Amino acid sequence: MPELTHRHTFALPSHCQQLQSFSSVESLLSQYRTDMPVYILGGGSNSIFIEDFDGLVLVNEIKGIDVTLCEDGIRLVVGGGENWHELVAYTVKQGWHGLENLALIPGSVGAAPIQNIGAYGLEVGERIEKVDVTSLETGERFSLSQQACAFGYRDSIFKRPENSKWIVTHVHFFLPNDLGPVTSYAELDALTNPTAEDIFNTVIAVRRRKLPDPATLGNAGSFFKNPVIPAQHYEQLKQQYPSMPAFEVNDGQRKVPAAWLIDTAGFKGQCHDGVCSYQHQPLVLVNQAATSGQAVIDFASAIIKKVEEVFGIRLEPEVRLVGKAGLVTL
Ligand code: EPU
Repeated sequence: MPELTHRHTFALPSHCQQLQSFSSVESLLSQYRTDMPVYILGGGSNSIFIEDFDGLVLVNEIKGIDVTLCEDGIRLVVGGGENWHELVAYTVKQGWHGLENLALIPGSVGAAPIQNIGAYGLEVGERIEKVDVTSLETGERFSLSQQACAFGYRDSIFKRPENSKWIVTHVHFFLPNDLGPVTSYAELDALTNPTAEDIFNTVIAVRRRKLPDPATLGNAGSFFKNPVIPAQHYEQLKQQYPSMPAFEVNDGQRKVPAAWLIDTAGFKGQCHDGVCSYQHQPLVLVNQAATSGQAVIDFASAIIKKVEEVFGIRLEPEVRLVGKAGLVTL
């Protein structure tokens, strides 16, 4: 059975029935088999295979970066199998603003719109003009505009269960000429008139300081999403926990850092069967010495239960957990 261990950054020992890469839509469609579950993999940085997957894993290796210099900005059409950080580094090297806040995020270009990756004040959906998709079920090829992608916080139309057989083949980015630097995030606001490269370098330094490098310590980034709760609920909690941080989403809603909830609930730096809450960023679960996916499930479930008991807030995983037959929910 083909091995998946080093195809997902959490690096739990795991296998699948079959594994095939595709470098074009044509080869993708010719490899697809309807008689077994299918899981589409990019860089494997947001999927954790918690046991052997009883199906076919398709790895997107569609490459290519086409650049068009337009009057109003730069347009890029990028293959879903390109590496995300290398794309960001390439645009920064050209001196183009637009993607630099998203430096060093592991994973592939094709996965970026699915999760609507975001960091340091920017979400990728803001820079996407359209996404080319192929449906594995029907073989149809179509494009979705930015609006049709329904981008939200770590969310998009691609995450809906009925669209699980869509493959992102290419992503169209637009970097307008008049883009200024995005320095709203606390760790970037000390920079004055930064170039794209300044922001890129600062983001890399912050990420290296806070987040574990998947090449040396298995992890899948933030394990949970930052929960959004009613403002009223936040005000109640704030009376009991005066240091509880929150960000305004709109008048009636507040986003609370899951890292703070996990930290305050006492899990920071704690481990269970080799799975740990990372000491510098408790929202990231790391594979210190995990021998089974059950350890991940047990530890994540314990965190969810305790946080719900203490704060009345239910954490939702941000990562995708893949079991024997496909996606698993906690
Ligand atoms: N905090 C603690 N204890 C800690 C660490 C953090 O209480 O030990 C609290 C602090 O209040 C801090 C807050 O958590 O201000 C937020 O922490 P941080 O700025 O590190 O960001 P985050 O909200 O935990 C999100 C994204 C990250 C992204 C960063 C930077 C999610 C789920 N995660 O993390 O994305 O890099 O912001 O923009 O939205 C990922 O998705 O995999 C990911 C790493």
